[in-house]
Amino acid sequence: MTASMYRGRRLRRTDALRTMVRETWVAPGHLVAPLFVCGGEGVRRPIDAMPGCSQVSVDELVNDCRELKAFGVGGIILFGIPDDKDPQGDAAADPDGPVARGLKAIAAEVPGLVRWADVCLCEYTDHGHCGPLRQAPTGETEVDNDRTVPLLAQAARVYADAGAEIVAPSDMMDGRVAAIRAQLDSEGHAETPIVAYSAKFASAFYGPFRDAAESAPAFGDRRGYQMDPANGREAVREARIDVDEGADVVMVKPALPYLDVIRRVREAVDVPVAAYNVSGEYAALKAAAERGWLDERGAVLESLTAIRRAGADVIVTYHAKEVARWLQG
Ligand code: PBG
Repeated sequence: MTASMYRGRRLRRTDALRTMVRETWVAPGHLVAPLFVCGGEGVRRPIDAMPGCSQVSVDELVNDCRELKAFGVGGIILFGIPDDKDPQGDAAADPDGPVARGLKAIAAEVPGLVRWADVCLCEYTDHGHCGPLRQAPTGETEVDNDRTVPLLAQAARVYADAGAEIVAPSDMMDGRVAAIRAQLDSEGHAETPIVAYSAKFASAFYGPFRDAAESAPAFGDRRGYQMDPANGREAVREARIDVDEGADVVMVKPALPYLDVIRRVREAVDVPVAAYNVSGEYAALKAAAERGWLDERGAVLESLTAIRRAGADVIVTYHAKEVARWLQG
């Protein structure tokens, strides 16, 4: 061996050396915890396929937020479980609904935790699709894009009024970012950023969430509006279009099966990129860890580090609280 041989191991010899040259890391402030908020008081209903996650009433939500804040988690994203559903998803824009009440309570009691509101109608429609339906001229029943968009804009406005610091449309309707931007601007919320779920794939990894949010479609699937998992180029186009329409951050979802998409979007746009480490990704690691088949802490930290390495600035993840706790030492 010659003296000039490359020895990669030189910089791997001690923890201090590795730390000094590390390229990527996860900090609690990068993380956003999804929370499911329902009506009532003192409610905490554990979600079967998502150990550690529950549907909670507003009072319990505030307790959870206090804990997240204490661990240094960056923010939360709220999903609502309404009392009543209808074909249009009217309850999404209810100023007295669980999301609006939750936002107000968190703003008052746990300032400093960035408050995101997910904007979608699927938790609020009685058929579970992401907007009102129509009969297409060709005969299919489909989500009516252009009737859905103003309803999303109205919901976004209600959440901003209630204290959302970020609104995050997850519906995949065309033109919704521009419509939400226009509505927020005209209603005194020009300073409220939009995180667009730009590349949201029609994924099998959303299963546990749909039980948690009671939003499984009653018929059919979401492939008519969410993206085909086979398409990377199209994801870049969706992200560019959302930036043009006024998105402040673009999101890729799911995360782990789409690391290449996160990287491509990162290189194509210059706004921050978020990635959503979804319910099925969470459930898979939890289940393996519960059986003793994986070391949970190692697998979770490695997964989130990989999502950051792929190019995500922000990670929405159900692991947020435990990761922040581990990182605190
Ligand atoms: C609502 C929405 C979904 C998720 C986030 N927002 C479900 C879906 O599109 O069916 C999934 C989140 C997860 O699985 O963790 N449209």
